[in-house]
Amino acid sequence: MEPTRVLFVCLGNICRSPTAEGAFRHFVAETGLGDRVEVDSAGTGGWHAGEAPDRRMRQAAAAQGITVEGRARQVRADDFERFHWIVAMDRENLADLHRLAPAGHGARIVLLRDFDPEGGDDVPDPYYGGARGFDEVVDIVRRSCRALFEEVRADWEA
Ligand code: 4NP
Repeated sequence: MEPTRVLFVCLGNICRSPTAEGAFRHFVAETGLGDRVEVDSAGTGGWHAGEAPDRRMRQAAAAQGITVEGRARQVRADDFERFHWIVAMDRENLADLHRLAPAGHGARIVLLRDFDPEGGDDVPDPYYGGARGFDEVVDIVRRSCRALFEEVRADWEA
């Protein structure tokens, strides 16, 4: 069976989306369903392409058991064909993704916090803020990714 492919997208692909990728991977691995899913992340912008995730983000995530790794890349047109789910970190990313999406693409483009059991719109951009902002990103992303994974699994059973 073809794996379900999930792409997380933020602006720079060095803070929020690699954290979501790591959290989602973590929950998938926990359930032993790793062979059913492929996970990646990308940025709507390309300024940080090739860079490792922000150290502050990696440290905040590691403190909650989430590994954040990989190299930043920009969203590409073929992502909209390859991925089944494309998950935006904030409403600006969501609008950019809708603008970039080729006509007739097959992806489900969604906002991560639409799955947040505590509600909310945007995963706040932590880049120019203090340490607490990074911890907050990890909290939001963990609980939202857990719920998103349940949604993906429900699809398999449907
Ligand atoms: P991210 O955070 O979108 O969560 O990766 C940012 C990283 C870099 C910049 C903005 C946001 N930047 O302006 O360079």
